[in-house]
Amino acid sequence: MMDWTDRHCRYFLRQLSPGVQLYTEMVTAAAIHHGDADRLLRFDAAEHPVAVQLGGSDPALMTEAAAKAAAAGYDEININVGCPSDRVQSGQFGACLMATPHIVVDCFKAMCEITDVPVTIKSRIGIDDNDSYEYLRGFVDPLAEAGCRKFIVHARVAILEGLSPKENRSVPPLKYEYVYRLKAELPEMEIILNGGITDVSQVREALDHVDGVMIGRQAYHDPYFLAVLEQDFLSGVQLPDRRSVVESMLPYVESQLAEGERLNRITRHMLGLFAGQPGARAWRRTLSEHAHREGAGIDVIKRALDALPQAA
Ligand SMILES: Cc1cc2nc3c(=O)[nH]c(=O)nc-3n(C[C@H](O)[C@H](O)[C@H](O)COP(=O)(O)O)c2cc1C
Repeated sequence: MMDWTDRHCRYFLRQLSPGVQLYTEMVTAAAIHHGDADRLLRFDAAEHPVAVQLGGSDPALMTEAAAKAAAAGYDEININVGCPSDRVQSGQFGACLMATPHIVVDCFKAMCEITDVPVTIKSRIGIDDNDSYEYLRGFVDPLAEAGCRKFIVHARVAILEGLSPKENRSVPPLKYEYVYRLKAELPEMEIILNGGITDVSQVREALDHVDGVMIGRQAYHDPYFLAVLEQDFLSGVQLPDRRSVVESMLPYVESQLAEGERLNRITRHMLGLFAGQPGARAWRRTLSEHAHREGAGIDVIKRALDALPQAA
């Protein structure tokens, strides 16, 4: 998620869930070509398994980006066919590519030629008035034929004109049944459901139909949810104590500060850790008020922990 799941956020989420597959923000192939690819693709070894999401529609640029992502060590390379923003549309990639599956196929094939890292697709179920199940199949089938084996489907259409990206994540109705049918009809594919998942019972229900779920906003706003899921679905996993999660971040935070990173670049992703717990507000307030200050160090995090009631 742009501006949210940066490398610091992913490192933090990994402390909560050893097993979950993490995804980067979308990185455009053009940015990798023109910009500082090493910085854009940087991640910590602790983040594995981690997928990079690429945005683009030029097979040459996408191939170059895939080669660099593979060399950087990513475990999966995902193509964004779901973003409806104006900026992305004007670059002719993201969700609007659902209308031109052959372009995605060209990118997919070219990328697979230069790497063995699995290339996967994240799409919507359709765009604008093209909201039938058949439309989704019309997009998926040529990619499946080209060898794509994993599809992550955000189960709502993207409205390309008239809705903001934020509205495009809530206004069009969720149609999980399309994604379930996709798996039923293409059982050899790995189908991952995305959109609107906020609790364990929804995950349980979805896993009766599909191979996995992708969780966006809930994992960001209430990151402990990932720990709860891990404990619920993997036997023998203990729920981590929230304070110990914070403590496990301290060496990482210190190493990043030593490189010149600002404290709040990391702690901004940790604000939701105590969501719903006593002291959540004091935790957030201490971090929000002090972590952005020049020279702020890990003592701010320790103070935020001290602001919590003992039991939290
Ligand atoms: C701030 C923000 C940024 C996002 N950026 C991306 C992105 O870069 N790539 C992507 O595929 N989806 C992006 N999304 C969409 C989410 O990945 C997800 O598809 C959507 O929020 C629905 O899932 P959820 O209900 O679990 O959040 C973003 C969502 C948010 C809230």
